[in-house]
Amino acid sequence: MNKIPVILDGDPGHDDAIAWVLANASPLLDIRACTSVCGNQTIEKTSYNSMRVMALIGLNVPFAMGRKKPLLREPIIAPNVHGETGLDGPALPEPAIKPEPIDGVELMAKVLKESAEPVTLVPTGPLTNIGALLLLYPELKPKIARISLMGGGIYFGNWTPAAEFNILVDPEAANIVFRSGVPITMSGLDVTEEALVFPEDFERIRALNNPVATVVAEWLDFFYKFHRGKGYDGAPVHDALAVTALVKPEILTMKDYYVQVETAGDFTTGMTIADHFGVLRQQPNATVVLGIDRQAFVDLLVEAAAYYGKVAG
Ligand code: RIB
Ligand code: CA
Repeated sequence: MNKIPVILDGDPGHDDAIAWVLANASPLLDIRACTSVCGNQTIEKTSYNSMRVMALIGLNVPFAMGRKKPLLREPIIAPNVHGETGLDGPALPEPAIKPEPIDGVELMAKVLKESAEPVTLVPTGPLTNIGALLLLYPELKPKIARISLMGGGIYFGNWTPAAEFNILVDPEAANIVFRSGVPITMSGLDVTEEALVFPEDFERIRALNNPVATVVAEWLDFFYKFHRGKGYDGAPVHDALAVTALVKPEILTMKDYYVQVETAGDFTTGMTIADHFGVLRQQPNATVVLGIDRQAFVDLLVEAAAYYGKVAG
């Protein structure tokens, strides 16, 4: 079976890191490059975290640091969720690679240009790098097979009542992405808030007793602290859904919508607005993930963590 060529773009971030663990363990994906984006923490911290996660999982592909800040706005970071480092919790190896001497957007463009087939982009942070890529290299759009993103939500937000964090941080970039015409799979809060991993699930992963599984369990321990304080029964591993939509879509329910991004609302900036009744008579621009078989999702994460025990030999 032909593998899906992908570029992982994220702001690790505990759930980004788990998404990368899942992607790297999947036989269906061919990871061509990784890039960092300013989101959960500063670009310096998310870049350092990206390279440490790559070292942990043995992912030896080109990496480059993305844009230092959103296209037009000042950064919003989330130390309350991911800690001062952006990936607080278990000790991680030092980077095993050096960043490419080019910007993350240039690396994306290079990979797209050099690829024989179109590449799927998997952003799990603000869409700054993707928006910049589309602005700077419109001629490369045909080389982007799909954008499978974590972001948005067609019923509610999490950073404001209307907006999800990734979209809110850089709504201008998100607007460029949703207007681009590139096929989009949007894993927003509608599904990620259902993708809860419970403490008993953490123990299934910890019991695998390989170095990566142990770290994943400890990431979940840390990530759950914030959510437990908000009354959650488990940790919503948001970003893993952007990968799940590629490697196990059969456990998800999806629906096509025409989605717009608000960039100028007093209360709604960053909102992803779905035209539920087709009143705008526009063709859908996004496949929105709405539901999940949670148990199958957890089994997928456990299976991915177990992979690292096999490769360790
Ligand atoms: O709203 C959830 C998103 O914001 C996730 O990508 C998380 O990592 C943070 O970036
Ligand atoms: Ca993220």
